[in-house]
Amino acid sequence: MSAPQNEGAALEGGRGLSVWDVFSRRVTAIKGGAKPTVSCNFYHLYKNDLLLAKALGFSSFRFSISWSRLLPAGTGKVNQEGIRFYHNLLDECLLLGLTPVVTLYHWDLPQSLQKEGGWSNHQIIKWFIRYVKLCIQEYSDKVKYWIIMNEPFAFTSLGYMTGFHAPGKISVKGFYLAAHHVALATAEASKTIRLLQPNACIGNSFSFSEIHPYYQNAQDVKAAEKGDLLLNRFFLEPALGMGFPYMESFPVIEKFHVFNRSWRFQEAMKCDLDFVGFQYYFPVTVRHNPLIPYLGASEVSAKRRKVPHTLLGWEINAESCGRMLHRIAKYPGVTKIIITEGGCAEKEVVQEGRVADPNRIHYCKHYLAAVLKAKNEGVPVDGYFAWTLTDNFEWTYGFTARFGLVRVDFDTQLRTVKDSGFWFRDFLNGR
Ligand code: NOJ
Repeated sequence: MSAPQNEGAALEGGRGLSVWDVFSRRVTAIKGGAKPTVSCNFYHLYKNDLLLAKALGFSSFRFSISWSRLLPAGTGKVNQEGIRFYHNLLDECLLLGLTPVVTLYHWDLPQSLQKEGGWSNHQIIKWFIRYVKLCIQEYSDKVKYWIIMNEPFAFTSLGYMTGFHAPGKISVKGFYLAAHHVALATAEASKTIRLLQPNACIGNSFSFSEIHPYYQNAQDVKAAEKGDLLLNRFFLEPALGMGFPYMESFPVIEKFHVFNRSWRFQEAMKCDLDFVGFQYYFPVTVRHNPLIPYLGASEVSAKRRKVPHTLLGWEINAESCGRMLHRIAKYPGVTKIIITEGGCAEKEVVQEGRVADPNRIHYCKHYLAAVLKAKNEGVPVDGYFAWTLTDNFEWTYGFTARFGLVRVDFDTQLRTVKDSGFWFRDFLNGR
């Protein structure tokens, strides 16, 4: 789970606003006009939710820290109430025997820093490192597993280029700057954590999607290669010390390299990582489309291709997840992979206290089988996190897309374990 999606208590405990609090005020930004202000109220109900995680048989718990809860203005004065909240949360995890896996940045930039340009301002590296240091100094005796950034391509491209996510900026230049700073900040953070906490296990979570050309012709194949560069290679390769990927006849990437003089930063972007966080939901099929600016390609939806898909139209294809695991494992320097997210938003029927979600069970079964197969074939997979424990604020979908194994009634905050939750419990109990 993540702080902006689950915690709520946006205006409590001395917390400063984040970009998602402000972005969600825009009319039409979020489905149904939803806001993350209360969400599933994890801030107050965390003991209850951790018990649920324990009861379902999980051994670890992944959550993110809200930067603006610790540093309401992003930098400067520390909010002791926020510090205490995560101590309490961590103590509870440890009490229940749940290994905490903590994400430092899950998209909720403090709004005060966004006012200064956010990730497109070079100063953000310094601000981020200050925040990371604070987290390590406070919590390193309780946390071993750290994830620095969650899905860097998603929040930089959607937040700074297309404007679909917070902070809602539409600017190629803004994206160029944000991407450059995120890559540098991640590397710097990895070295900072290593220095302050030598026994830490450090990772970064990347989103992956196998990309298929619609037709096997030269134009569609090229479109697929471009999509692959952006969705799979763009942040992983610099983190592994290979620099940002380059491709000729892909103007947006050619300009990116010149704009940032990326080649000069190859070493500085190399991260000191113990594991790659692997997040996989669906493969993508693309075709050449000269009408689409910058990319020259567009997606051919699963619906149009009449292949199985989830409620959000995401193709269901577990084998593609297995193939992607093999591919990532082949990169030099990748010695450990932890699946830090996997799951789906699916139809569910609520009837007399029971939540029937057979499609989610089907999805989890097949994706888990693909992961286990890859592991048995030698891919160094060392963990799997279901996304996610409870329904929560699903970004622009608001509360309309439910990914939880536990259903949340957002009016009453009542939790009901879904059939998929029980399925997981039995699976984890070896039944
Ligand atoms: C990726 C993100 O990390 C997470 O916040 C989101 O809820 C899931 N995918 C599902 O879209």
